[in-house]
Order: sequence, then structure tokens, then C-alpha cells
Amino acid sequence: MTHTMNQTDFGQTATDQLRNRLAAAGQEHTLQFWDQLEPGERAQLTAQLESIDVNRLNCQDEGSELDLDEATLTAPDQIKWSADSSEDESLVKLGEQMMSRGELGVLIAAGGQGTRLGLSQPKGCLPIGPVTGASLFQILIEKVVAASREFDCEIPVVMLCSPATHRETIEYLDAENWFGLPESCRHTLCQKTLPAVDRKTGRLLMESPSSLCLSPNGHGGHLSELVDCGLLEKLTDAGVTTLFYCQVDNPMAPLCEPGVIGEHLRNEAELTVLVTPRTSPEEKVGTVICVDGVPQVIEYTIIPEELAARRDAEGRLEFRAANTGIHLFDTAFLQREANHFSSLPLHQANKKVPHIDEQGATVIPDEPNAIKFERFIFDVFPRSRKTLVLEIDPLTGFAPVKNADGANSPSEVQGQILQANRAWLASRGLRVDEGVPVETVPMLTSFTDPEIRLGRRVA
Ligand code: UTP
Repeated sequence: MTHTMNQTDFGQTATDQLRNRLAAAGQEHTLQFWDQLEPGERAQLTAQLESIDVNRLNCQDEGSELDLDEATLTAPDQIKWSADSSEDESLVKLGEQMMSRGELGVLIAAGGQGTRLGLSQPKGCLPIGPVTGASLFQILIEKVVAASREFDCEIPVVMLCSPATHRETIEYLDAENWFGLPESCRHTLCQKTLPAVDRKTGRLLMESPSSLCLSPNGHGGHLSELVDCGLLEKLTDAGVTTLFYCQVDNPMAPLCEPGVIGEHLRNEAELTVLVTPRTSPEEKVGTVICVDGVPQVIEYTIIPEELAARRDAEGRLEFRAANTGIHLFDTAFLQREANHFSSLPLHQANKKVPHIDEQGATVIPDEPNAIKFERFIFDVFPRSRKTLVLEIDPLTGFAPVKNADGANSPSEVQGQILQANRAWLASRGLRVDEGVPVETVPMLTSFTDPEIRLGRRVA
């Protein structure tokens, strides 16, 4: 629906045209409060309706149309990496030198609504450092600041936001002076939204008489925005060749680790996907599987049970590469594929979405009542010509905060941080008494000098 609000050749107003198109798609109810709206409200609603492809929202989940012909599926080849095994000096040097040349940029996905945690602020503001109380934003940004100081370079950071998080994220980071990141390295972008539809009827849900129920269009939505707002080009022009991508809810992400970057470069990959070993067939995590030899992520919701549970001769899960959401993208790869970003599949999720009914009264559902649509960043993976699958230790690289209680809760993640830090100290012969909390601090860290690590890395 890409028409403007001008008078048409037939004397029909653009509003009539819009109404006709909506009626043809069974969505005319979205204009039912039209007569009560102020001009500004009408313009807002029109802009929302004009920007969406109503017919695409009615169709089946495009994300589940993957052809899972078992004959085409194989487990990907993997290389293992751990911070402690990075004594491969040449590998570390590769990453270090690349950062020194100013060729690394960082993308942090922070546009999600964090509904499972039920926070009132963006998820990145969540205090998670078990000793310091540092927020997710702080821990991740300080890793970048520490690397840029150690390797004497600028590392631009793009905070990937959404309308749900953009303003508050900027306010928070500005108030914290972006934790010491130079001003020239600070970037934010705001992904677009997609509307929610009623699960049973497919009708667009209204948040108010003048607005649809809109939510961020998934982490895959950042890719189009990165191109459209000109940032990808700007970073490339500034000499950035590789983007280290992670998600804001994983404080353990090995952001800017020279060894990880070294593996990406040494393997001449245009995409590196960091994985951890799946622990059980039931684990709710996407799996990296080769389809016709090409690595891609298959969501746990669509992988057949038998396939998820299949074991190899050694008794390990055959398909065990769990996607961590940590990736390295070459900017040349993203530029080459830029035309495809807006047509990535729309995945569907059943969610509870408050809305108004036909009388304008607010409805707060107890059960999932709506379908939300999202694009996933990993849907670009099959387009990569050379993908490296790099296995990391979950204890030191992957601890996402997802739920308020239980698995992946803030307290579980804090426990994991403490455990990893304790193990790290123990591996260097430093014993910390049981029950004494220890947290390593990126700003006091050296990525490469083991002596400095020993002496200064503890808070
Ligand atoms: P999740 O899918 O876990 O979503 O996002 P979420 O918003 O954090 O949490 P729930 O599902 O609402 O409880 C994984 C990562 O992708 C980012 C999130 O910020 C998180 O870092 N994300 C998700 C976006 O940046 N944009 C989106 O539209 C969705």
C-alpha cells in the first residue's frame, strides 16, 4: 500500500482509496473511528496503514516453509575457540592488528521489548554485574572501550534500537557518557515496526482509535535499516570491514576478542556464527544445520523431534550446534546482499497483545490472542558464500537473560558470571574462597597480556 494522500484523477480522495483497499483486504475496521480523529491522528493512522503490505500479513508463516528434506541435512564442520586456548599467538595477532587498523565495528541488538522479563526500561539497562551492578549496556560497551584502548583504535558501536527502546536507550547512554566510548564512535538506529493481527480472524489489532498495535519487526529488521539510514556505507567508507554482532541480553558475549576475529579472518569467512553445544533435544534454541551444505539456523519450533534427538556414534547429539546470536559479518557481504533484506521471511509468534475492541474499550488478554510478525537476522545466513561455525564454551560466552525466574533469569546469569570468573581465576592458580563473589571488569582487562589479566582483572 504505497499511495499518497492526494486527490486522484477520478475525484476520489486518497482516504476513499485507502478505505477501498482495506475493505478488499478485510481490514476496513481500522478506519472505524476515522470521523472522530483529529487531522494529526488521521495522518498518523494513514501513514501506518500505507506502510504495510496487508496481504503479506495474512499469509502463512513464511519462516516455517523451510524444506526439511532429511537427505539434504548435515551437521556443520566446527572449529572450537576458547579465551584460554588463544595462546595461538598468530591468531590473536590477526585480530589485534585488524582492530589496530580500525577495521572492526560492533553491532548490538537492543530493540526487543523484553516482554518475558517484564521490565519498564530497555533490557540493556538491567543491572547484571553480580558485584558491580553494571548494566548489560555497560558490560558490553566497556568491552569495546577496553579493546579500543588496548589496540589504540576507534571501534564504532551501533546500538540497534526500535521505537520501543530508542529514546530511552539514548537518554540512558548519554547520561552515562556511553561508558567512555568516544563520541565519534557512538551510533544508534531505529528499526521499523510491524502490526499485530488477531489470531483467529487475521484482522489488524488497534492500540487506540488512531493507531495500530505495532511492535519491532524482529532483529532481522535492523539489516534494512542499517542500509537505509546510510550507516553501513558510512562504516565501510571509514574502513570498517567486519562487524561483530551480539545481542544485548548476553553479557558474556566475547565481544572484540582478538582470537575470535582471528579465526574469522584466517578462515576467510564472510560470516562467522558462534555456537555452543546443545545440551538436550528439548533445549529451546535454534540449531545451525547445513541444508545442501549451506549452514543455516533452524528454529527449535520447526525442527522435527526425531532429528533434534538423533545421536551420532559417540552418543552426542548429531545436530548440536546451538545458535548463540553472536555473529561476525563482513561489510562486503552485507553490502552485496542489501537488496534482499526487505524480503526476508516474516516469522509468526503467538503473543498476548492488549488492544481496543469495536467500541473502543481496552482489552487485556489472558491468553495469546494475536500474531506478531518478525524478521530474523539468521535468515541472511544461507546467502553467505563462506560461513565459519565457531564453537565457544557456553560458560564463558553465552548467558542470555530472558526470563524473570528460573532458566535464563537474571539470578541464573549472575550465578554463571560468578562461576566463570571463579573458574578463570582458578585456572591461573588464584583461589577464591567459596561464597566470595568475584567479577571481572572489562575496563581493567587486557585481551592479550596474561600478566595484566592476572594482576588486574578482578573487581
Ligand atoms: P528476543 O527474541 O529474546 O526478544 O531477542 P526480547 O525482546 O529480548 O525478549 P521477549 O521475547 O520480548 O521476552 C533477542 C535479542 O534480539 C533483540 C533483543 O533486544 C535481544 O537482544 N531484538 C529482538 C531486537 O533488537 N529487535 C527485535 O525486534 C527483536
